[in-house]
Amino acid sequence: MSSPSLALAPAAVNSGRSEFESAVANQIAAFPTARLVKRVVDGNVTIGHFHGILTTLFHQTYSGPYTFAKAAVNCSWQHEVAKEYLLSHAEEERTHWRWVLDDLSATGYQGADPRSQLPHYTCEAFISFQGRVAEQMPVARLAIASVLEGIGSAFGGSYGRQLLQRLNLRPNQASFFLSHGETDKVHAQELTDVIAGCQLTPEEWGWMVHAANVAGRFYRGMYDHEAFA
Ligand SMILES: [Fe+2]
Ligand SMILES: [Fe+2]
Repeated sequence: MSSPSLALAPAAVNSGRSEFESAVANQIAAFPTARLVKRVVDGNVTIGHFHGILTTLFHQTYSGPYTFAKAAVNCSWQHEVAKEYLLSHAEEERTHWRWVLDDLSATGYQGADPRSQLPHYTCEAFISFQGRVAEQMPVARLAIASVLEGIGSAFGGSYGRQLLQRLNLRPNQASFFLSHGETDKVHAQELTDVIAGCQLTPEEWGWMVHAANVAGRFYRGMYDHEAFA
């Protein structure tokens, strides 16, 4: 039976580096299709939308570092560079959830503390997938990060600045997006170097492609959910 030609057709079990690189590039390129991004670009964004995305992203920033740490523990010493980077990146990302809380309180957010709330389903999908990858194919946690850091470095600064302008905010009120525009440029390059130093099997590359494709859709989902319609 021939395989269906669907846009969401799954990645092959066996794959390679170039397929991985195109998957990452395609997922980064698709990010501006998200409803919230269109609102920022079109000037239809409100402070309520800004609080909506911060509270949606919160649990990703709270859980994400620990899925790096879990992936580091589970990663084979065969991928020594990846194993060590996963652990150091867990530490690097560990405190970024505070940027979310700082921005909420600096912009008059009156809602519930995100720490007292369970994640929105779009965020739940993303962090649950990170946990599954950290257990099943830990090296592919780097693929998820490549998409995320790629989006942050490509768009964090420019959309962050447009958001400031539209909402009349000062830079210290949108530190999460503006800071990621900077840190993620460094992180994206580090990931490229670490992945270049890994000798992966075709099955591992298959997971890298799969993880990049799924992570891109799930991450975009957080910027595309019903609150931004
Ligand atoms: Fe971060
Ligand atoms: Fe980062």
